[in-house]
Amino acid sequence: MPELIPMLSKEEIDKMVSTLALQISLDYDGRTPVILGVLKGAFIFLADLLRYLTIPVEVDFLRVSSYGAGTSSSGNIRLTKEIETNIAGRDILVVEDIIDTGLTLNFLLNYLKNFDPLSVRVCSLINKIEVRKKKIKIDYIGHVVQQGFLVGYGLDYNESYRNLPEIYHLKL
Ligand code: XMP
Ligand code: MG
Repeated sequence: MPELIPMLSKEEIDKMVSTLALQISLDYDGRTPVILGVLKGAFIFLADLLRYLTIPVEVDFLRVSSYGAGTSSSGNIRLTKEIETNIAGRDILVVEDIIDTGLTLNFLLNYLKNFDPLSVRVCSLINKIEVRKKKIKIDYIGHVVQQGFLVGYGLDYNESYRNLPEIYHLKL
């Protein structure tokens, strides 16, 4: 049986999310950014983050598939759901669950450039720093981890564990 080692409690996550939302609300004061959630992993984080934002926002989603079944990024990234909002001239905030190698985000940022947004920033719940392959600026970071595979709070292992309210380190 895989072992789940507690990493972030509900309270710690809540504090982290409200702190990020406060900073984002201050930075985007007077503007209406389009928040782009990266499915599926970011959906719970996005839902909580939005409820703490005090600025007007629009929301859209895109979906990429890179892992297949397993715990390491294949680097073989496919866009499986396009954005539906016209983002030309808009301020974009991409909301991700985890940045690991950086390949997914690099792919997404290149994709978004095609639509001529006014600005693009990135907010990630977790920044996993050990195996970064692409240098990427992450504007808002919830929590930094060195390594390891995380589950819970939207994060999955083969589609399991997304519903856990806390974040765990999965030991296989
Ligand atoms: P890259 O390597 O492209 O990966 O930066 C980013 C995407 O990979 C997923 N990912 C994880 N998913 N637990 C997960 O449930 C993890 O520890 C983990 N690390 C990477 C994630 O979907 C992210 O969008
Ligand atoms: Mg993801």
